[in-house]
Amino acid sequence: MIIILFGPPGAGKGTQAQRLEKSRGLVQLSTGVMLRAAVAAQTHYGKKAKGKMDAGQLVSDDIVIGIIADRIKADDCKNGFILDGFPRNVAQAEALDVMLAEEGVKLDAVVQMEVDDAALVDRVSGRYTCANKKCNEGYHDTNLKPAVDGVCDNCGGTEFERRPDDNAETVAKRLDEYYAQTAPVLPYYAEQGILQQVDGMAAVNEVAAQIDAVLAA
Ligand code: AP5
Repeated sequence: MIIILFGPPGAGKGTQAQRLEKSRGLVQLSTGVMLRAAVAAQTHYGKKAKGKMDAGQLVSDDIVIGIIADRIKADDCKNGFILDGFPRNVAQAEALDVMLAEEGVKLDAVVQMEVDDAALVDRVSGRYTCANKKCNEGYHDTNLKPAVDGVCDNCGGTEFERRPDDNAETVAKRLDEYYAQTAPVLPYYAEQGILQQVDGMAAVNEVAAQIDAVLAA
Protein backbone atom coordinates (compact mmCIF):
# COMPACT_ATOMS: atom_id res chain seq x y z
CA MET A 1 0.00 0.00 0.00
CA ILE A 2 1.28 3.48 -0.88
CA ILE A 3 -0.28 6.38 1.03
CA ILE A 4 0.28 10.12 1.18
CA LEU A 5 -0.51 11.83 4.50
CA PHE A 6 -1.30 15.38 3.46
CA GLY A 7 -1.74 18.47 5.60
CA PRO A 8 -0.23 21.69 6.96
CA PRO A 9 2.58 21.88 9.53
CA GLY A 10 1.40 20.25 12.74
CA ALA A 11 -1.55 18.43 11.16
CA GLY A 12 -0.30 15.17 12.66
CA LYS A 13 1.27 13.62 9.55
CA GLY A 14 4.33 12.35 11.38
CA THR A 15 2.31 11.10 14.36
CA GLN A 16 -0.03 9.07 12.17
CA ALA A 17 2.76 7.89 9.84
CA GLN A 18 4.59 6.37 12.83
CA ARG A 19 1.39 4.58 13.88
CA LEU A 20 0.77 3.24 10.36
CA GLU A 21 4.37 2.10 10.14
CA LYS A 22 3.88 -0.06 13.22
CA SER A 23 0.34 -1.26 12.49
CA ARG A 24 0.73 -2.03 8.79
CA GLY A 25 4.43 -2.71 8.26
CA LEU A 26 4.75 0.26 5.93
CA VAL A 27 7.82 2.50 5.82
CA GLN A 28 7.50 6.17 6.80
CA LEU A 29 9.19 8.40 4.23
CA SER A 30 9.33 11.90 5.71
CA THR A 31 11.19 14.43 3.59
CA GLY A 32 11.44 16.68 6.67
CA VAL A 33 13.16 13.92 8.67
CA MET A 34 15.50 13.11 5.78
CA LEU A 35 16.37 16.77 5.24
CA ARG A 36 17.07 17.31 8.96
CA ALA A 37 19.38 14.27 8.90
CA ALA A 38 21.19 15.77 5.89
CA VAL A 39 21.52 19.11 7.70
CA ALA A 40 22.89 17.40 10.83
CA ALA A 41 25.40 15.41 8.76
CA GLN A 42 26.35 18.59 6.87
CA THR A 43 26.03 16.87 3.50
CA HIS A 44 26.04 18.86 0.26
CA TYR A 45 22.22 18.75 0.14
CA GLY A 46 21.97 19.47 3.86
CA LYS A 47 24.02 22.66 3.52
CA LYS A 48 21.83 23.82 0.63
CA ALA A 49 18.58 22.98 2.49
CA LYS A 50 19.37 24.49 5.90
CA GLY A 51 18.71 28.16 5.10
CA LYS A 52 15.35 27.41 3.49
CA MET A 53 14.22 25.19 6.35
CA ASP A 54 15.25 27.70 9.02
CA ALA A 55 13.24 30.36 7.15
CA GLY A 56 10.16 28.11 6.85
CA GLN A 57 10.42 27.99 3.06
CA LEU A 58 10.31 24.98 0.76
CA VAL A 59 13.60 23.37 -0.18
CA SER A 60 14.20 23.23 -3.94
CA ASP A 61 12.36 20.55 -5.91
CA ASP A 62 15.51 18.98 -7.37
CA ILE A 63 16.75 18.11 -3.87
CA VAL A 64 13.54 16.60 -2.47
CA ILE A 65 12.52 14.83 -5.69
CA GLY A 66 16.01 13.30 -5.89
CA ILE A 67 15.83 12.12 -2.28
CA ILE A 68 12.44 10.43 -2.75
CA ALA A 69 13.33 8.95 -6.16
CA ASP A 70 16.33 7.20 -4.59
CA ARG A 71 14.53 6.18 -1.41
CA ILE A 72 11.50 4.43 -2.93
CA LYS A 73 13.82 2.04 -4.81
CA ALA A 74 15.14 0.57 -1.54
CA ASP A 75 14.15 -3.00 -0.60
CA ASP A 76 12.32 -1.91 2.56
CA CYS A 77 9.82 0.03 0.42
CA LYS A 78 8.72 -3.06 -1.53
CA ASN A 79 5.87 -3.75 0.92
CA GLY A 80 4.62 -0.18 0.68
CA PHE A 81 5.28 3.20 2.22
CA ILE A 82 3.74 6.33 3.68
CA LEU A 83 4.79 9.67 2.23
CA ASP A 84 4.84 12.33 4.97
CA GLY A 85 5.59 15.86 3.74
CA PHE A 86 5.93 14.95 0.06
CA PRO A 87 4.71 16.10 -2.42
CA ARG A 88 4.49 19.76 -1.42
CA ASN A 89 3.72 21.37 -4.76
CA VAL A 90 2.27 20.32 -8.10
CA ALA A 91 5.69 19.79 -9.70
CA GLN A 92 6.58 17.30 -6.92
CA ALA A 93 3.21 15.53 -7.35
CA GLU A 94 3.81 15.16 -11.08
CA ALA A 95 7.36 13.91 -10.47
CA LEU A 96 6.02 11.37 -7.97
CA ASP A 97 3.60 9.95 -10.56
CA VAL A 98 6.52 9.44 -12.96
CA MET A 99 8.64 7.74 -10.26
CA LEU A 100 5.83 5.40 -9.24
CA ALA A 101 5.10 4.49 -12.86
CA GLU A 102 8.79 3.64 -13.34
CA GLU A 103 8.57 1.31 -10.32
CA GLY A 104 5.34 -0.25 -11.66
CA VAL A 105 3.28 0.82 -8.62
CA LYS A 106 0.58 3.39 -7.93
CA LEU A 107 -0.82 5.50 -5.13
CA ASP A 108 -3.63 3.90 -3.11
CA ALA A 109 -4.81 6.97 -1.20
CA VAL A 110 -4.07 10.58 -0.33
CA VAL A 111 -5.37 11.33 3.17
CA GLN A 112 -5.92 15.02 3.85
CA MET A 113 -5.75 15.91 7.55
CA GLU A 114 -7.83 19.03 8.27
CA VAL A 115 -6.86 21.14 11.30
CA ASP A 116 -7.61 24.77 12.31
CA ASP A 117 -4.69 27.19 12.04
CA ALA A 118 -4.77 28.13 15.75
CA ALA A 119 -4.49 24.47 16.76
CA LEU A 120 -1.57 24.00 14.36
CA VAL A 121 0.44 26.75 16.02
CA ASP A 122 -0.24 25.28 19.48
CA ARG A 123 0.73 21.79 18.39
CA VAL A 124 3.95 22.79 16.68
CA SER A 125 5.15 25.10 19.44
CA GLY A 126 4.54 22.34 22.05
CA ARG A 127 6.17 19.55 20.10
CA TYR A 128 9.34 17.71 21.06
CA THR A 129 10.91 14.38 20.16
CA CYS A 130 13.14 11.72 21.64
CA ALA A 131 16.75 12.71 20.88
CA ASN A 132 17.70 9.09 20.14
CA LYS A 133 17.93 9.20 16.33
CA LYS A 134 16.97 5.53 16.05
CA CYS A 135 13.76 6.27 17.96
CA ASN A 136 12.66 9.85 17.27
CA GLU A 137 9.31 9.25 19.04
CA GLY A 138 7.16 12.38 18.99
CA TYR A 139 5.55 14.06 22.02
CA HIS A 140 3.74 17.28 22.96
CA ASP A 141 4.01 19.38 26.13
CA THR A 142 0.32 18.97 26.98
CA ASN A 143 -1.37 16.72 24.40
CA LEU A 144 0.94 13.71 24.25
CA LYS A 145 3.29 13.30 27.21
CA PRO A 146 5.39 10.19 27.90
CA ALA A 147 3.84 7.83 30.47
CA VAL A 148 6.75 8.52 32.82
CA ASP A 149 7.83 12.16 32.87
CA GLY A 150 11.19 12.61 31.12
CA VAL A 151 11.43 9.01 29.84
CA CYS A 152 10.69 8.01 26.24
CA ASP A 153 7.89 5.42 26.06
CA ASN A 154 9.47 3.80 23.03
CA CYS A 155 13.18 3.47 23.83
CA GLY A 156 13.57 4.56 27.46
CA GLY A 157 15.81 7.47 26.45
CA THR A 158 15.93 10.52 28.69
CA GLU A 159 17.18 13.13 26.18
CA PHE A 160 14.67 15.14 24.15
CA GLU A 161 14.97 17.93 21.57
CA ARG A 162 12.93 20.61 19.77
CA ARG A 163 13.20 21.61 16.11
CA PRO A 164 14.77 25.00 15.31
CA ASP A 165 11.88 25.86 12.95
CA ASP A 166 9.22 25.30 15.65
CA ASN A 167 8.87 28.95 16.69
CA ALA A 168 5.90 31.24 16.12
CA GLU A 169 7.51 33.35 13.37
CA THR A 170 8.72 30.38 11.32
CA VAL A 171 5.49 28.44 11.83
CA ALA A 172 3.58 31.40 10.32
CA LYS A 173 5.88 31.31 7.30
CA ARG A 174 5.46 27.53 6.96
CA LEU A 175 1.68 27.97 6.99
CA ASP A 176 1.92 30.64 4.28
CA GLU A 177 3.97 28.23 2.16
CA TYR A 178 1.39 25.49 2.74
CA TYR A 179 -1.52 27.61 1.52
CA ALA A 180 0.41 29.12 -1.40
CA GLN A 181 2.20 26.03 -2.72
CA THR A 182 0.98 22.81 -1.10
CA ALA A 183 -2.80 23.16 -0.82
CA PRO A 184 -3.03 23.63 -4.63
CA VAL A 185 -1.93 19.98 -4.96
CA LEU A 186 -5.30 18.82 -3.54
CA PRO A 187 -7.30 19.24 -6.78
CA TYR A 188 -4.62 17.21 -8.57
CA TYR A 189 -5.47 14.18 -6.40
CA ALA A 190 -9.21 14.92 -6.26
CA GLU A 191 -9.27 14.63 -10.05
CA GLN A 192 -7.60 11.20 -9.75
CA GLY A 193 -10.37 10.10 -7.32
CA ILE A 194 -7.96 9.12 -4.54
CA LEU A 195 -8.31 12.08 -2.16
CA GLN A 196 -9.89 11.33 1.25
CA GLN A 197 -10.42 13.65 4.25
CA VAL A 198 -10.13 12.99 7.97
CA ASP A 199 -10.81 15.31 10.90
CA GLY A 200 -7.31 16.11 12.14
CA MET A 201 -8.80 18.07 15.07
CA ALA A 202 -9.92 14.81 16.70
CA ALA A 203 -7.82 12.99 19.31
CA VAL A 204 -4.82 11.03 18.00
CA ASN A 205 -6.52 7.62 18.35
CA GLU A 206 -9.70 8.89 16.72
CA VAL A 207 -7.73 10.28 13.76
CA ALA A 208 -5.99 6.89 13.48
CA ALA A 209 -9.38 5.16 13.41
CA GLN A 210 -10.64 7.54 10.72
CA ILE A 211 -7.54 6.87 8.61
CA ASP A 212 -8.04 3.10 8.98
CA ALA A 213 -11.66 3.54 7.89
CA VAL A 214 -10.83 5.50 4.75
CA LEU A 215 -8.05 3.07 3.83
CA ALA A 216 -10.45 0.13 4.21
CA ALA A 217 -13.14 1.78 2.05
P1 AP5 B 1 8.37 18.77 7.78
O1 AP5 B 1 9.30 18.12 8.70
O2 AP5 B 1 7.64 17.94 6.78
O3 AP5 B 1 7.37 19.64 8.63
P2 AP5 B 1 5.84 20.04 8.41
O4 AP5 B 1 5.13 19.63 7.18
O5 AP5 B 1 5.86 21.49 8.67
O6 AP5 B 1 5.09 19.15 9.38
P3 AP5 B 1 5.39 18.92 10.86
O7 AP5 B 1 6.42 17.86 11.02
O8 AP5 B 1 5.64 20.22 11.54
O9 AP5 B 1 3.96 18.41 11.36
P4 AP5 B 1 3.22 17.03 11.24
O10 AP5 B 1 2.03 17.20 10.35
O11 AP5 B 1 4.14 15.88 10.94
O12 AP5 B 1 2.66 16.91 12.72
P5 AP5 B 1 3.17 16.04 13.95
O13 AP5 B 1 2.69 14.62 13.79
O14 AP5 B 1 4.61 16.26 14.20
O15 AP5 B 1 9.15 19.89 6.94
C1 AP5 B 1 10.06 20.78 7.55
C2 AP5 B 1 10.73 21.64 6.49
O16 AP5 B 1 11.47 20.80 5.58
C3 AP5 B 1 9.78 22.43 5.59
O17 AP5 B 1 9.40 23.66 6.18
C4 AP5 B 1 10.64 22.60 4.35
O18 AP5 B 1 11.60 23.61 4.53
C5 AP5 B 1 11.38 21.28 4.24
N1 AP5 B 1 10.65 20.27 3.44
C6 AP5 B 1 10.16 19.07 3.88
N2 AP5 B 1 9.59 18.41 2.87
C7 AP5 B 1 9.72 19.19 1.78
C8 AP5 B 1 9.30 19.04 0.42
N3 AP5 B 1 8.61 17.96 0.00
N4 AP5 B 1 9.59 20.05 -0.45
C9 AP5 B 1 10.27 21.13 -0.04
N5 AP5 B 1 10.69 21.34 1.23
C10 AP5 B 1 10.41 20.37 2.13
O19 AP5 B 1 2.31 16.67 15.12
C11 AP5 B 1 2.59 17.98 15.58
C12 AP5 B 1 2.33 18.05 17.10
O20 AP5 B 1 0.93 17.87 17.33
C13 AP5 B 1 3.03 16.93 17.86
O21 AP5 B 1 3.46 17.43 19.09
C14 AP5 B 1 1.95 15.86 18.07
O22 AP5 B 1 2.16 15.15 19.25
C15 AP5 B 1 0.69 16.71 18.13
N6 AP5 B 1 -0.46 16.02 17.57
C16 AP5 B 1 -0.49 15.21 16.49
N7 AP5 B 1 -1.74 14.79 16.24
C17 AP5 B 1 -2.52 15.35 17.18
C18 AP5 B 1 -3.93 15.30 17.46
N8 AP5 B 1 -4.78 14.59 16.70
N9 AP5 B 1 -4.38 16.02 18.51
C19 AP5 B 1 -3.54 16.76 19.27
N10 AP5 B 1 -2.20 16.83 19.08
C20 AP5 B 1 -1.72 16.15 18.03
